[in-house]
Amino acid sequence: MNSTTKCFAMNIILLNFLPILPSSTSIAIGSIKPNQPMRDGDVLLSSTKIFALGFFRPANSHNRYVGVWYNKVPNQTIVWVANRDNPIIPVTDNNASGVGLLAVHGNGGLVIYGKDQNTPLWSANVSVSSPYNSMTAKLLDTGNLVLLEEDNGLSQRVLWQGFDHPTNTILPFMKLGLDRRSKLNWFLTSWKSQDDPGIGNWSYRIDPSGVPQAFLYKGQAPRWRAGSWIGERWSGVPKVTNVIYNVSFVNNQDEFSIMYMMSESIFSRIVLGESGTIVPSIWHDQGQQWVKYWSAPEEECDEYGKCGVNSNCDSSNMGEFECTCLPGYEPKSPRDWYLRDGSGGCVRKSGVSICGNGDGFVKVARVKVPDSSKARVNMNLSWKACQQECLRNCSCKAYAKADERWGGFGCVTWHGDLMDTRAFSNAGQDLYVRVDAIVLAKYAKSNGSLSKKGKLAISLVSVLVFLLLVVPISYWLVRRKRKGKQRQNKYSPRVTTRSTYFEDSTAELDESSMHSDIPFFDLTTIAAATDNFSLANKLGKGGFGSVYKVVVFE
Ligand SMILES: *[C@@H]1O[C@H](CO)[C@@H](O)[C@H](O)[C@H]1NC(C)=O
Ligand SMILES: *[C@@H]1O[C@H](CO)[C@@H](O)[C@H](O)[C@H]1NC(C)=O
Ligand SMILES: *[C@@H]1O[C@H](CO)[C@@H](O)[C@H](O)[C@H]1NC(C)=O
Ligand SMILES: *[C@@H]1O[C@H](CO)[C@@H](O)[C@H](O)[C@H]1NC(C)=O
Ligand SMILES: *[C@@H]1O[C@H](CO)[C@@H](O)[C@H](O)[C@H]1NC(C)=O
Ligand SMILES: *[C@@H]1O[C@H](CO)[C@@H](O)[C@H](O)[C@H]1NC(C)=O
Ligand SMILES: *[C@@H]1O[C@H](CO)[C@@H](O)[C@H](O)[C@H]1NC(C)=O
Ligand SMILES: *[C@@H]1O[C@H](CO)[C@@H](O)[C@H](O)[C@H]1NC(C)=O
Repeated sequence: MNSTTKCFAMNIILLNFLPILPSSTSIAIGSIKPNQPMRDGDVLLSSTKIFALGFFRPANSHNRYVGVWYNKVPNQTIVWVANRDNPIIPVTDNNASGVGLLAVHGNGGLVIYGKDQNTPLWSANVSVSSPYNSMTAKLLDTGNLVLLEEDNGLSQRVLWQGFDHPTNTILPFMKLGLDRRSKLNWFLTSWKSQDDPGIGNWSYRIDPSGVPQAFLYKGQAPRWRAGSWIGERWSGVPKVTNVIYNVSFVNNQDEFSIMYMMSESIFSRIVLGESGTIVPSIWHDQGQQWVKYWSAPEEECDEYGKCGVNSNCDSSNMGEFECTCLPGYEPKSPRDWYLRDGSGGCVRKSGVSICGNGDGFVKVARVKVPDSSKARVNMNLSWKACQQECLRNCSCKAYAKADERWGGFGCVTWHGDLMDTRAFSNAGQDLYVRVDAIVLAKYAKSNGSLSKKGKLAISLVSVLVFLLLVVPISYWLVRRKRKGKQRQNKYSPRVTTRSTYFEDSTAELDESSMHSDIPFFDLTTIAAATDNFSLANKLGKGGFGSVYKVVVFE
């Protein structure tokens, strides 16, 4: 070690005259070479000087760490830490600055020493076969610390990189996911506390099973789900509109990864905080501060599985219980539900056969679709085929679009319990939940997704139709009936209201009626739609039987 010590002393003399000196005591360098280690106090700058690597200590700690920060942001913003669980600890006094050393070394590639300069505190664990004096450590303009092997300046090979070992911050061009060849797993882990960058209990990782999803875990338990990947974002994360970025999503036999890219002139980061929140932010030069543009988990409905299975968490009704059951389901424990504990979830309403009995789908709009780690995806299916595929398979509980770009394509089907669905006021996807014929008709009748305005319009049209057509015709029929014979079949009413709702999302219509202008509905549907043929819904009697008011919505 003595020889190295001499070398870096020379280094200081040589570099002391460089013009870029962040402060009077630190030395800015461009690379670390085997005979030129970096000492506490020096900083390694990226070529554009946006990022710096050096020794730092968290605000209320005397331990020292090697980390990367945004060099041009006045409040030191640490984005990566090397020896996060192996700090340089002051031994005799409260001051460890001056003893740390970051070196390129034949044994481990890149190592950090504390007071004991024989045993490294931390090592990159690179097994070096070639002569190690061809190695250089550099800080790239992305903030990535790389260990390069140079072949006489002809070619470079990356032996190790900091971006393969993310800490609590995602930077542009940093990948999250899985390298299937090297088995490297790229995920975030929180700091233990603001004063300790050691590995904390929170992690944010991507689960490639089923339809890929991102999860926030505390220990092993999922606490928040970003949702499934729907082409340009996670389904449970709002679209960011005022920031320009590109996302690269790779899923092949070599790797599974997601990475966002941004112009280098924008300083941006996504941090997993010590208390388990994901906060993306952008540095604002004018305000001289990091401005967050979003964060999660934030609301009660963000909590994973807050309302158990087969439910929809919807906090839009202030004061009301946020848990509701998905269409066709009811609370498993009505008592717990009443006491505002939704964790028991919902079960299928009993007594109804669900498959092949006139069942169909009810659209649940603007939701984070259920946990898709066991869902099935087929990118080749058309939207129509997706619905038919789900209808055909009795184990299919719901379906949705797999990718929301270009109007949406692909097909995801769920075959088990539907976990962690939540409603958004203006984000999310449409989910189609399988229900039996009676529930289907009930939803069609009561509301669907029609606004008050629409309901009013339909009511007015109904009244007009009633006045213009039904009244005169009935009058005429009544007069005719008095003269002639009477044909009446109360239990096969014909509904002539044309409805795209029934066409798109239910299998109520059989093939023959699909092509005619007059759809036929089966008895249960009609019964439900007319409130069991209640008098209130009866408009009058026609030549073919009684005429009922049925309101059908899109
Ligand atoms: C710097 O960071 C500290 C701790 O996060 C914060 O309290 C302080 O307000 C920040 N200062 C500026 C100028 O942003
Ligand atoms: C720690 O030691 C360094 C160099 O010996 C000195 O510059 C610095 O002021 C000391 N810091 C504290 C907090 O004592
Ligand atoms: C290097 O290996 C040691 C011992 O196996 C391990 O504790 C340490 O975390 C490794 N370091 C890195 C950077 O992976
Ligand atoms: C992490 O979880 C363990 C076990 O629950 C707990 O003992 C520990 O204090 C937690 N650590 C932090 C930093 O919260
Ligand atoms: C996004 O991608 C397009 C096309 O690949 C490219 O032209 C553009 O520069 C990229 N933008 C950013 C911010 O990386
Ligand atoms: C989807 O279509 C592509 C190209 O037409 C084909 O290679 C692939 O096998 C199909 N996948 C499935 C699941 O049918
Ligand atoms: C229905 O879906 C399940 C789950 O994906 C699958 O195992 C089963 O083979 C499918 N059944 C039919 C008839 O396609
Ligand atoms: C639609 O009707 C169902 C059943 O009548 C009801 O539970 C649900 O709250 C209604 N939805 C809307 C958006 O009004």
